[in-house]
Amino acid sequence: MTTTTLPTDLPPLMHAAVEEAGRLLRSGDVVALPTETVYGLAADALNPTAVAKIFEAKERPTFDPLIVHLPDKKQLDTVADVPADIQKVVIQLIERFWPGPLTLVLPKKACVPDMVTAGLPNVAVRVSSNPVFKRVIQHLNKPLAAPSANRFGSISPTSATAVQAELDGRIPLIIDGGACMHGLESTIIKIEAGSPKNFITILRPGPITPEDLKAFGKVKVETRTVIDEATEAPGQLASHYAPRTPLRLLSKPSDFTPVEGKRYALMSYRGEEKDGYLDLTEFEEIMVLSPGNGKLPEAAVRFFYILRALDQLGVDEIIAEPMFEHGMGIAMMDKLRRASINH
Ligand code: TXA
Ligand code: MG
Repeated sequence: MTTTTLPTDLPPLMHAAVEEAGRLLRSGDVVALPTETVYGLAADALNPTAVAKIFEAKERPTFDPLIVHLPDKKQLDTVADVPADIQKVVIQLIERFWPGPLTLVLPKKACVPDMVTAGLPNVAVRVSSNPVFKRVIQHLNKPLAAPSANRFGSISPTSATAVQAELDGRIPLIIDGGACMHGLESTIIKIEAGSPKNFITILRPGPITPEDLKAFGKVKVETRTVIDEATEAPGQLASHYAPRTPLRLLSKPSDFTPVEGKRYALMSYRGEEKDGYLDLTEFEEIMVLSPGNGKLPEAAVRFFYILRALDQLGVDEIIAEPMFEHGMGIAMMDKLRRASINH
């Protein structure tokens, strides 16, 4: 299969790209689309044959459920049954954060195929704010299942080029919407009724932070690594987000002693000598997440791009500096830990 990439940076190009994506999606095919978080591999969420193509292209195990994207927040009840006791807080959350990088796990409607939810009674749902994604899904006016557009277990793509590196020859079309605004996958939450406050459990940390959510309930971050496949966030497997090159997350500079003859690259948080990591060895390459002196949203935008670039160097090990564990730093540290457990 030849993979075509269509640009969107002029109105007539956007129009043609939206038409072609719509045509393929309507006929039960998959298309890679930009979202504000990472690129997604989309298919008609209510068509099991189309959804099966996502699993096939990604080589994704069928126990790992997909996120369903809606054309509009008004359509939530077409795929989810919101329990009466959390109805109020769900409405408040979607009024505040949709369209945007927040995914809610809610009881699913019967129309959602079991393949989408991996047989779970719940569906993960969000509305994307990316202008290209919005155009495509509103043109189609159907829910779209879309996991990140990478091979299973690999690094999420934040550009059309990265999608191509992951899925070339396996999908018919990539819509190029430029770089993703946030650069990290959406925050996934589960909500339970409680008094005086509802409970919000973050199943996957992301751009919407515990700080952002605390006005809506008592927030708990669940960053345990899930090995058991029948759990609530099966996607939080240890193997996720891993580069092929072994990666080691340090907690302090003295944790690292280079081995003679080994080649290392450094993922530096802000590239500051005073942090003590830059001179630990003769690094083959040093890439800085936030050259703007340690800004977490800047680091997040560059995170997967830099991880991908470091992975391509062919060094023996990628050494990662720790980051502040607040805001977007929670999600990045979670991903670095998962990547380093792997090796
Ligand atoms: O930002 C994002 O969320 C991106 C863009 C494309 O929207 N999508 C994304 O999808 O990251 P994916 O497949 O890479 O991660 C989805 C994860 C699953 O691995 C799983 O952890 C969780 O969402 N998930 C999906 N359905 C679920 C469900 N019914 N219950 C609990 N967790 C679920
Ligand atoms: Mg993913």
